[in-house]
Parts: sequence; C-alpha cells; structure tokens
Amino acid sequence: MLRRLILEAADSQTLRRLIATAPPTRAVVHRFVAGTEVADGLAVARQLVADGLLVSLDRLGEQVRDLSQARATAEAYRELAAAIEQAGLAAEVEISLKLSALGLGLAGNASVGSPEEPRRVALDLAREICAAAQAAGTMVTFDMEDHTTTDDTLAIVAELRREFPSVGCVIQAYLRRSLADCRELAEAGARVRLCKGAYREPAEVAFTRRHEVDRNFVRCLRILMRGSGYPMVATHDPRLIAIASVMATQAGRGKDTYEFQMLYGVRPDEQQRLVRRGERVRVYVPYGGQWYPYLMRRLAERPANVAFFLRALGSK
Ligand code: FDA
Repeated sequence: MLRRLILEAADSQTLRRLIATAPPTRAVVHRFVAGTEVADGLAVARQLVADGLLVSLDRLGEQVRDLSQARATAEAYRELAAAIEQAGLAAEVEISLKLSALGLGLAGNASVGSPEEPRRVALDLAREICAAAQAAGTMVTFDMEDHTTTDDTLAIVAELRREFPSVGCVIQAYLRRSLADCRELAEAGARVRLCKGAYREPAEVAFTRRHEVDRNFVRCLRILMRGSGYPMVATHDPRLIAIASVMATQAGRGKDTYEFQMLYGVRPDEQQRLVRRGERVRVYVPYGGQWYPYLMRRLAERPANVAFFLRALGSK
C-alpha cells in the first residue's frame, strides 16, 4: 500500500516541486545520489574502485519531452564515456542508461513525427553512445522501465548486441513474462542484470506479492546461471544473494563469470563482505539533477527510508 502511494507520488509534479525546494532534501538525496555533475559521479566511482568494487554510472534523467532533450542526453553520455576513459577507470566503470532518456517515450510528440519514429530515434542515439563507450573501452547496460517499454527495450538491445556484443539489459523478476525473456537471453549469451523491479505495475503483467516475485527471481536466476551469458545479480536481499552464490557454484561458474550489483547507499557493508569473499560486486551510482523519480523509487522499496526522509525534513 505504502509502496503504491509513494510510486504514485513519483508522478506528482506538485510534490516534486515541494520536495525539491525543501532545504534538508539535499542530505537525503546524497545518501543515494553522488551529486549533480559528472565529476561527482567519477569521484564516488574512484573511491568505490579503490575499495575493490566495480561501478555502473547512471546519468539521472528519464522521459525526455522532445527530440532536442534526447539528443542532449546522448551528447552527455558520450562525454561521460570519454570522462571515464580519461580518469583511467574504463576497466572498472560501465554506463547505465534509460531509453526513455533517448526519446523512446516520445510517441505522438510533434518533435519526432510518425509513431515508429521514437524507436528509431532511441536506437540511433543509443548506437552513438555504445560506439563512444566501445571507443573508450567501457560497456553499456540499458535499464528497464515500466512494462509498456519492455518489448521495445529488448528489441533495441538485441539490435545493438549485433554490433556491440557486450551491451547488457535488465530483466525484472516481477514481470510474468520474464522467465521466457531470460531463456532467450541466456541462450544468446547476453549480459543480463536481474532485479526484482521498481515500477507500479498491474497484476495482469506482474506478480504483486513479495514471495511470488522472489520465487520468480530464483527461477530466472537458475536459467541465467545455467546459460552461456553473464548474469548480473542485482539485489540487496540476503536470501537471494545466498541462493545466487550456491547456484553459481552448482553451475560450475568461476567468480569472473557473473557479478553482484547493488545501489549506491544501500547495504555498503554487504557490498564489502562480498568483495572480501572474492565476489565481483558492482555499485550503481546515479548522478545529475533529475533525481526525483529515482529517489521516490528508493523510498518505495523500504518504509524505513520514508521515516529517514521525514525525520530529515522535520529536523530543519
Ligand atoms: P528488497 O526490496 O526485498 O530489499 C531487500 C533488503 O535490501 C531490504 O530488506 C533492505 O535491507 C535492503 N534494501 C533494498 N532496497 C533498499 C533501499 N532503497 N534503501 C535501503 N535499503 C534497501 N529496477 C528496475 O525496475 N529497473 C532497473 O533497471 C533496475 N536497475 C537496478 C540496478 C541495480 C544495480 C539494482 C541493485 C537494482 C535495480 N533496480 C531496477 C531496482 C530493483 O528492481 C529493486 O527495486 C531494488 O533493488 C530493491 O529490491 P531488492 O532486490 O534489493 O529486494
């Protein structure tokens, strides 16, 4: 119930303005977001890499409003790829991005023309970013957004993988379709980040009970671990982390053939514990000014975060 309310609030422009202008928001945001600039993201990345972790840098921004914003996003990502190379971090730091930031959601928008156009625009811009990432020696993983974008996202990733085989995608265990998607991707040898899923979805397409989502996560994980791709286990859930370790061993996987992933600011002690055990652990580090929807999804994941947030608001 609380999760649903917070995810609804994520769409509210009024609340967005109210929260963004509240002075204590800064402290709360910085728990989950590196800062507003590329330099902030890179500074956090450098520290994490020094601590033995890998990183995925995400420039915050989604649902652009027109073509010029989509182009600006692509330009910013090309600059990010170059900055990662210049910082000497290309081996440890990859890039995450959302196709809605490249115009995938622009259907019906005057700036793009025909209904098929947003998909072509997003693909073309994504291709430019993948080329820049490849030239810089780093990789790209495409985040997954709400279920209305899943088909397009997987189709674009499949197309990009022909040219850039290291391109990764995300599968959300809460979607009923995900088991079939995992089979296809595991067979294709893809890099796949498996997570539970963070959006507000109807019961027709998604499992809504926690235990159902967890059970589907385990089913998807089994397929990915047994497949020929590179599973990226994106969860903070201790039970699923333990299950993933056992499955990797059972599948005869070496520690360099899969990785764990967690969000910046969430369970840093567990990240270090896994590193000490010799696991590859990648931290997803967002930076940029468009932090509101990202922050709301993090609050929705854990009621204690809401209390933390309200305490911070009330303390000033
Ligand atoms: P769960 O929510 O059950 O949490 C398990 C435990 O982890 C909690 O009890 C708590 O201790 C801790 N925890 C989890 N979230 C927390 C938080 N926000 N603050 C504090 N503690 C927290 N989703 C999506 O739809 N599309 C995507 O592309 C991605 N990408 C992505 C990348 C990476 C690297 C990660 C780790 C996650 C995503 N997600 C995502 C988000 C994902 O779908 C999911 O919402 C969160 O990871 C929370 O789910 P858990 O698996 O951690 O389990």
